[in-house]
Amino acid sequence: MKIALASDHAGYELKAAVAAFLRGRGVLFEDLGCGPGESVDYVDYGARAARAVVAGACDRAILVCGTGIGMAVVANKFRGIRATPCWSEFTAEVSRSHNDSNCLTLGGRTLSPDLARAIVRIWLETPFEGGRHARRTGKISDIEAENLK
Ligand code: RB5
Repeated sequence: MKIALASDHAGYELKAAVAAFLRGRGVLFEDLGCGPGESVDYVDYGARAARAVVAGACDRAILVCGTGIGMAVVANKFRGIRATPCWSEFTAEVSRSHNDSNCLTLGGRTLSPDLARAIVRIWLETPFEGGRHARRTGKISDIEAENLK
């Protein structure tokens, strides 16, 4: 699995902690910015990572802004992206098992590095349950298709 990793300035430090965590676990990732000391718009970096997933260059994305909210709003504009802000081990687990999250969004100003690492680990390891949850995510795909008409 290859992860598209991106942040704005408010998420930069937590993104660096997540990058080190992924590296330590041997998870392949591509850091799509931003760099240190920049002040940027989360929209640009969230869109860059979402496009990498939509294009198939990466399998999933992890996006960090101040709250995880702006990144989720942006990423969810892209067809096929199910971006989920997670703030606890439980939300990380159900974002995968129920929502088949392919884009984890985190808050650099709301999460400690320890909690963020726990969230990332669970999000990476938890499988989608399918069944009734697949029926529900299928309905989301139907809505996406409807919006293309
Ligand atoms: C940047 O100051 C902040 O607005 C941004 O990181 C994010 O929290 C938006 O949702």
